[in-house]
Amino acid sequence: MKLLKMLNKLQRKLGRLNTKQFLIFGGILFFFTMVVKYISLDCNLDYINQNGKLRSERCRNLYYQDLKILATGRKNCSRIISGDPDEVRKTLIDNLIVKNRRVVTTEKDYLEGTKDCTMFKKQKKYVMFSLSEEERNYPIAYSMVIHDDIEMFERLLRSIYMPQNVYCIHVDMKTPETFYEAVKAISLCFPNVFLSSKRESVVYASWSRVQADLNCMEDLLNSIVDWKYLINTCGTDFPLKTNTEIVKALKNLNGKNNMESERPPSEKKRRWEYHFETKDNILQTKIKKKPPPLNIPIFSGSAYVLLTRDFVKSVFENPIAKEFLEWAKDTYSPDEYVWATMQRLTEMPGSMPNHIKNDISDLNALARLVKWESLEGDIEHGAPYSVCTGKHRRQVCVYGTGDLHWLIQQHHFFANKFDPRVDDHAIQCLEEYLRSKLFYGKIV
Ligand SMILES: *[C@@H]1O[C@H](CO)[C@@H](O)[C@H](O)[C@H]1NC(C)=O
Repeated sequence: MKLLKMLNKLQRKLGRLNTKQFLIFGGILFFFTMVVKYISLDCNLDYINQNGKLRSERCRNLYYQDLKILATGRKNCSRIISGDPDEVRKTLIDNLIVKNRRVVTTEKDYLEGTKDCTMFKKQKKYVMFSLSEEERNYPIAYSMVIHDDIEMFERLLRSIYMPQNVYCIHVDMKTPETFYEAVKAISLCFPNVFLSSKRESVVYASWSRVQADLNCMEDLLNSIVDWKYLINTCGTDFPLKTNTEIVKALKNLNGKNNMESERPPSEKKRRWEYHFETKDNILQTKIKKKPPPLNIPIFSGSAYVLLTRDFVKSVFENPIAKEFLEWAKDTYSPDEYVWATMQRLTEMPGSMPNHIKNDISDLNALARLVKWESLEGDIEHGAPYSVCTGKHRRQVCVYGTGDLHWLIQQHHFFANKFDPRVDDHAIQCLEEYLRSKLFYGKIV
């Protein structure tokens, strides 16, 4: 009613204006509309200084034009991802043709490319702003343990990089100097990416693998970033989820850790019942070990876990955790049971009580999706997943293009393993898929 009266008044006033006054009024109105329009269209494409908010659909599109990652060649990733058998077959055949292989980026290329960090980040399409307030307020810490393949490392970093997160990289002591220098050069382009302050020479299946993560964990606790969860990765991992999805899923854990943790099969028990010697590799001795401190039950799991900040703190502070880790140092593959075991100690924050109902298999845990060769088969005949379309390494599938459709339907944050020398198309399509999902919540 009041509004109608006001409108009436305005109309009467406007009617009394002469042409000149009318033009001025119109001019002012036009000016303000332009200002409002300009502000709403200003997407601030200088994304180095950008600090959030894709203000409108138009800005979102503009950013995406700048930051989208498209697979090279004639592959149609939408079709591959939706599981189109013809497209998958074509791509798998293409993988076999050596001359079609892309030239990989070398350490030298990265050392050269990172001389101008602004240019490097632009060319490699790093997302240098948070995509939402929610993500900005929920930083994640990454511990990345790597030893070779600089290109794969950089592509992994790019796919998980967000300015609010923090990344610690542990480079194996045994790696060539150029590799270390290249990783260092890349890290120096980002304020929130750093190399671990202590380096280990990592021997497969030995304590050193755990120590590498512990080195990063300690550094990450000392970082200024108030991260909520820690995720550890290695050089052959690749994400299946965007940062947006990971934040949502972590919040849903309600302060619990998440990882594989099951009663160990009897054949694994020798791994901690005997003393192992580590030199260039790890060897079992005849010496029997004492049982673990307080006789805590050992659970088997994965080296790759999702840990709350409080859990990580307790790893360094809780006396039982400290004593247990000390005890585990001369055992076989402690990385595959120490987290899973501490996860079942009531003293540890975010843990799950030691009851069989709390056992979680790798397929039900969120951290890492792995296709074990021995479990592959016909899903209709009870196998958990179909046969690997890439190659096997250490009884694990190195994914091929034909695995993508299945991979992206799983809840896991990351999958292992990927290798551009086995199937680069698979990784390229994942990159394309993740980037479009980051901006639009789906593939476009
Ligand atoms: C890929 O395939 C989809 C579905 O068949 C089609 O809509 C789309 O245009 C294709 N994209 C390209 C780049 O060819």
